[in-house]
Amino acid sequence: AQSAGGEKYRPAFHFSPKAHWMNDPNGMVYYNGVYHLFFQYHPGGTTWGPMHWGHATSRDLFTWEEKPIALYPDSLGTIFSGSAVIDKDNTAGFGKNAMVAIFTHHNQKIEEAKTGLHQYQSIAYSKDEGETWTKYKGNPVLPNPGITDFRDPKVMWFEQGKKWIMTLATKDRITFYSSPDLKAWKRESDFGASLGAHGGVWECPDLFSLKSNGKTVWVLLVSINPGGPNGGSATQYFTGSFDGNKFVPNSTQQKWVDYGADDYAGVTWSNTGDRKIFLGWMNNWQYANQVPTKTWRGATTIARELSLESAGNEYYLRSMPVREISPLLKSVYKVTNVSIGKELDLSSHIKPLNGKFKIDLSLAKSEKVDIVFENRDGEQLIIGYDEKNNNFFIDRTRSGDTSFEKGFAKKHIAQRISKSKNLKFSIIFDEASVELFSDNGLTVMTDIFFSHSFWDTLKIRTSSDIKLSDISVWTIDLKKRGR
Ligand code: FRU
Repeated sequence: AQSAGGEKYRPAFHFSPKAHWMNDPNGMVYYNGVYHLFFQYHPGGTTWGPMHWGHATSRDLFTWEEKPIALYPDSLGTIFSGSAVIDKDNTAGFGKNAMVAIFTHHNQKIEEAKTGLHQYQSIAYSKDEGETWTKYKGNPVLPNPGITDFRDPKVMWFEQGKKWIMTLATKDRITFYSSPDLKAWKRESDFGASLGAHGGVWECPDLFSLKSNGKTVWVLLVSINPGGPNGGSATQYFTGSFDGNKFVPNSTQQKWVDYGADDYAGVTWSNTGDRKIFLGWMNNWQYANQVPTKTWRGATTIARELSLESAGNEYYLRSMPVREISPLLKSVYKVTNVSIGKELDLSSHIKPLNGKFKIDLSLAKSEKVDIVFENRDGEQLIIGYDEKNNNFFIDRTRSGDTSFEKGFAKKHIAQRISKSKNLKFSIIFDEASVELFSDNGLTVMTDIFFSHSFWDTLKIRTSSDIKLSDISVWTIDLKKRGR
């Protein structure tokens, strides 16, 4: 919050565009040692507008280099969300290992004509690792069958069936399509019209498998807006099986990838082998166009590695910061088996860290705890566990500038999933965001905030007197971007 002029609130180790508006991450694909991140981008302003695909690359998932715009609007429409794959076997005929983007064309003229046919799927390819792109002349490859919301294709190679699978958001459900060549698409099945959260339109899905105790389990992510657990946009998920035709859920329990307010439209990188690396847009449509940054709007979450935890018949997603964070961490404080008493003051350890740090805290017992951050402007952000209601929370009610939208100043709550006796928090602060990974990533909450100065006091408050705990504080040491 201390940086000059237009750079106020600029994150240090999260991606944000140098200028102008961004929303969803798109086309995330790993190739030749490089993580590509494309994103919904409006280069003409700092609010949502005609969509392009911006482009950034990274080798470590934390240091990002912004590249020239990858995809511009054309006669078929603006470029909405989608995915990218590496076509190893040249199924599409664009060349071996071509990078192929599959995206939604959104046609405003058709939208104004109100036929409902304004979204359809198209492809483009790059033979120079995403530097330059050619749109396929046969676009669109999947015309609109008469569904007003028909978008955000996420494509993967389905090895068992030797075909591409497209997972598409179709208003209030997911529709799966298959293709031998990324050009001809056949409808396979629908999922979800009567399952899951339906407080808003379904968007930006992802389908992938993870191993749990040697068993293959399919995971389907579906973003919805509005209707999230703490208001506005959020991403739910389902677990089950997928046979190339149908997704069959194994549970009807409502689950969310992230219970905070600010992790939307996240999906996973393609071409990363068994690793599933997720990253979301760190924002919420409820106020995304009003947040008080000046020269740009929007950022991503940090990259998170996904795995599955099984509990009885249920599977839960576990999200943890990718291991690439380790070399960036420098320990500044560590105690083991400390007795907290009623209050432990760690202010002197975080004061020098300019609001950017990681704190790991583990308590021997699951009891009420408030982790209270304050600054010299009298602002406050509280993270904690409420034993009575068995939930985690982030309270940003008095966290700084909250005036831009009436619902922003709020306490966000997440029901605890883990039944573990001890309590674990891993908390990552950047300039204007906090990411909470509780119970080793079983309950995750991401919130943005706009404090007028850095958090320079930290007090841990517990309800009873003695609590044995391990505490580590780390700096996240990265050459600062854009300053
Ligand atoms: C999700 C979304 C997508 C759409 C894009 C448009 O945030 O609404 O469904 O493709 O944003 O920018």
